[in-house]
Amino acid sequence: MSKQGKLWEGRQGDTDAAADDFNSSIKIDSRMYREDIAGSIAHAAMLGEKGIISREYSEKIIDGLSGILDDINSGRLEIDPNAEDIHTFIEGELTARTGDAGRSLHTARSRNDQVALDTRLYLVSKTDETIAAARDVMRALVDKAESCRGYVAPGYTHLQRAQPISFAHQLLAYAWMLSRDVDRLKDAERRMKVSPLGACALAGTGYDIDRFMTAKSLGFERPAENSIDAVSDRDFVIECASVLAVLMMHLSRLSEELIMWSSWEFHFVEISDAYTTGSSIMPQKKNPDMAELIRGKTGRVYGNLMTLLTLMKGIPLAYNKDMQEDKEAIFDSFDTALACLGIAAPMISTMKINEGAMKKAASEGFINATDLADYLTLRGLPFRTAYKLVGEIVAECVSGGFVLETFPLERYREKSELFDTDLYSYIEMSACMQRRTSYGGASPASVDVQIKKLREMLDE
Ligand code: ARG
Repeated sequence: MSKQGKLWEGRQGDTDAAADDFNSSIKIDSRMYREDIAGSIAHAAMLGEKGIISREYSEKIIDGLSGILDDINSGRLEIDPNAEDIHTFIEGELTARTGDAGRSLHTARSRNDQVALDTRLYLVSKTDETIAAARDVMRALVDKAESCRGYVAPGYTHLQRAQPISFAHQLLAYAWMLSRDVDRLKDAERRMKVSPLGACALAGTGYDIDRFMTAKSLGFERPAENSIDAVSDRDFVIECASVLAVLMMHLSRLSEELIMWSSWEFHFVEISDAYTTGSSIMPQKKNPDMAELIRGKTGRVYGNLMTLLTLMKGIPLAYNKDMQEDKEAIFDSFDTALACLGIAAPMISTMKINEGAMKKAASEGFINATDLADYLTLRGLPFRTAYKLVGEIVAECVSGGFVLETFPLERYREKSELFDTDLYSYIEMSACMQRRTSYGGASPASVDVQIKKLREMLDE
C-alpha cells in the first residue's frame, strides 16, 4: 500500500491489497510525471487567474509542483511504486508539501481529463522523437544512395531478377516510404494537440474556467469541443499505434532485404561487425541479428495496435477503467519503433555495398531482355512482336549456354534482320540502367533528382 492515502477516501472502506495492486498503473504511467506536472501547473495558473482559487494558493501549487519536478529529475524524490497512479502520487506529494493549497488543485478537474491530457502531451513528445529518428534513417539512406548512385543492380519482381536499376534507386524507395511515415506522424500530432483539460469527469463544470488559456499554455491548438468526447476517446492513441505499425512494416521489409543481401548467395552488402553477431558454434558466421530483430519486433507493434482497437471497441462513454490499459501498449510501440530506428540508421550508414556482386547478379539473369525488345521496337517492330521474338532468343540462349551479350550476331540476324552490331552496346547493363530516365525511374540521373528533393525535405 502507498504511504499516501487514497484520492477517493470518504465514500469507501479499504480495498483488498491484491486489488490495489491490480488497479495500480504507476509502473507504467510514472513516465508521464513531467506531463502531469505541466498540466497541473497550467491548471493551477488558470484557477488563480480566474479567481477560482486564491493567487496565493495558485502560486504555492506552482512552486510546489516545480519543486516536485526538480526532485524527481534529480532523484531526490522517488516515485512511490505502490501509489495508484502518477496523478495520485503527484497530488499526494503536493498536498504533503503545501497542505490546503495542494488540496485545492483538483478543483474543476478530474483524473479523466487529466490522464487524457497527460497522454496527449506525452505522445506529442514521443511523436517528435520518432519523427527525428525516422529522419535520421532517411538521411542514412540518402547518404548511402549518393555513394552508390552509379552501381548497377538487378531490380526484382517475384524475387526474380527483372530489370537493371541503380542500387541507389532501391535504397531511396525506402527513404520515400519513411518520408510518408514522417508525414503521417505530423498529421497525427496535429489531431493530438487538442486539449481535453477542463472536460473534468465527463460533463465540464460550473466554474468559470478558461479552457483556451490552459490549451494555449500547454502548446495545444484549442480545447476539445465536447467534454464527453474529450475524456472518452483514445483514437489519438490508436492513430499513433497504426502509424507506427506502418513504419515498422517499412523497416521490416528493409531489414528483410538487408538480411537477404548480406547472405553469401547475394553478397550485395556487408553489414558492419558493429551490427552483426557471431555464432556460438560456427566460426565462419556473421549473423544479421539487428536486422532480424527489427523484423521480429514488428510483430509486437502490430499486436499493440490490435490490443488498442479491441480495448476501445465495446466500452460505453465516457471514461472506463479499461482505458488505463492503453498506455502500456502505446508506450511499447513507441519504445520499439524508436529502438529500431535508432539501430537502423547507423546500421545503414556503416554497411558496405559490394558493387561487383550486384553487377555480376545483374549480368546473369537476362534482365536486359526488355531493353532488347525495346531495341527492336525502336526499329519499327510492334512491342508485342518484339517481346515474343526476344522470348525465343532467351530460350535459345538458355539451352545453348549463352547470355544476351554473348549470343552471336549471326544467330540474332537469323531471328530478325533488324539486329545489328550496335545491339550489344544497347543492351549493356549500365547503358540499360542509364537509359531509365523517365520521371522517377531507376537511372542515376533520376536518383540525383530524388536525392536533391529528399535533402531539401531533410533540411527543413
Ligand atoms: N490511471 C487512470 C488511467 O490511466 C487514471 C484515470 C482514473 N480515472 C478514474 N475515474 N478512475 O486511466
